[in-house]
Amino acid sequence: METEHRHSGTGERGGAWRDDAESGFELSEVLSALSYVLDMIEGQPPGHTLRSCFIGMRIGECLGLGEEDRSALFYALLSKDTGCSSNASRVANLFGADDFAVKKDFKVVDWSRFSERSRYAARNASPDGGPWSKLRHLVSLGAKGQRGARQVVQIRCEQGAGIVRLLGFPEETAQAVYNLDEHWDGAGHPHGLRGEEIPLLARICGLAQTVEVFYTEFGPLQAEEMARTRRKKWFDPNLVDAFLAEARGGRLWKELASPDLLKTISRMEPPDRVQLATPERLDDVAYAFARIIDAKSPFTYKHSDRVASVTTKLADYMGFSQDEVRDQRRAALLHDIGKLGISNRILDKPTRLTDEEFEKIKGHTALTYGILVRVSPFRHLADLAASHHERLDGSGYHRGLSSKDLDTPARILAVADVFDALSSQRPYRSAMPLEKVFSILESDGHLDLEIVEALRLLIQRGEIQANA
Ligand SMILES: [Fe+2]
Ligand SMILES: [Fe+2]
Repeated sequence: METEHRHSGTGERGGAWRDDAESGFELSEVLSALSYVLDMIEGQPPGHTLRSCFIGMRIGECLGLGEEDRSALFYALLSKDTGCSSNASRVANLFGADDFAVKKDFKVVDWSRFSERSRYAARNASPDGGPWSKLRHLVSLGAKGQRGARQVVQIRCEQGAGIVRLLGFPEETAQAVYNLDEHWDGAGHPHGLRGEEIPLLARICGLAQTVEVFYTEFGPLQAEEMARTRRKKWFDPNLVDAFLAEARGGRLWKELASPDLLKTISRMEPPDRVQLATPERLDDVAYAFARIIDAKSPFTYKHSDRVASVTTKLADYMGFSQDEVRDQRRAALLHDIGKLGISNRILDKPTRLTDEEFEKIKGHTALTYGILVRVSPFRHLADLAASHHERLDGSGYHRGLSSKDLDTPARILAVADVFDALSSQRPYRSAMPLEKVFSILESDGHLDLEIVEALRLLIQRGEIQANA
């Protein structure tokens, strides 16, 4: 059985996989490619993170930061939005709206001012609902007030700092991400820190990201004007002065608009501190992004993590090599990364989805492919990760593949995914008992029965736990 599976499995891909993974990518290249996903979750146009990184690093250089600080700042700027999936569900729920739209608008208002905050709430609360629905959400938002806003920011900060630590970056980087939304005048979140109580790197990240949003939304002049207006309010006056000095003459804006921005950014990492995407680091990145994916909806809590664990056990049992198992684990961790592009109004909907909503959900596998194919060391996993809803009889999505196209890793991933989905609670049903899960896995003819059998055996042996 093992030989047969290895032949029908990753034999051909196997060689290419290791070549790719071992060819020494820089970590910043991997995070830059994945930063487009973070932009998407935060409702920002593609490139927001990269442009913020450029602006923040230029401010850091202006201040004469040493290599260690610049390295910590560089990774803080690239990972500043890693916590943003964790409050998406709450934001969608609070506003009764698409979380992407609410978050996008949030970045351009001065929410420390009551009048702007009220207009923002009125604009975003239940935009598609009737007047009663809007009123209900506005009353609820009013009741939660600043405390509610603080909680939403805090969830994001804690998750972001946790992800930064998982990625192996220094505590200065984690603190910069944690304190991203604090304001110089003490009106920020989550703790209302004031002035130099806010870590310097966090102050730089906060200014850089807001400048970027205004630059992209309204243009350079408005970005400069925003910084002047919020000087000593949101931002450290010294940093604003440094930024305005850099912006004077327009060279900063010209470089920011350059098609070579990605290359420019990779050169901003202090040369003696360039971090490489070693295999262990790539495992960390895949695991960290699985955490980001799973945080998007309360109903997918730990899903990617569990699918990866089941996949690893099955792949091991089927006799794949350690390198192949490692790749299959990474694909499993990232298989639902496309869900980060779907609104929580759909993901968390407790009632039946409309046809249009279901089509959007089905779009997540194509999105998974589109995301992974851009990340050099994960490119060879894009096909596998994106095929987890394909079925042996051709009834799956998004490409309608069938048994002749689906190799053993794809079949393992499909079984692991369905197994976890059925044995976990979902918005529209509770978790199923194990006998029922297996009766579905075995009876629908969509999945590889040999793998389902292996799963049953590994559960009996106690090597896989149902929804542990
Ligand atoms: Fe999926
Ligand atoms: Fe899944």
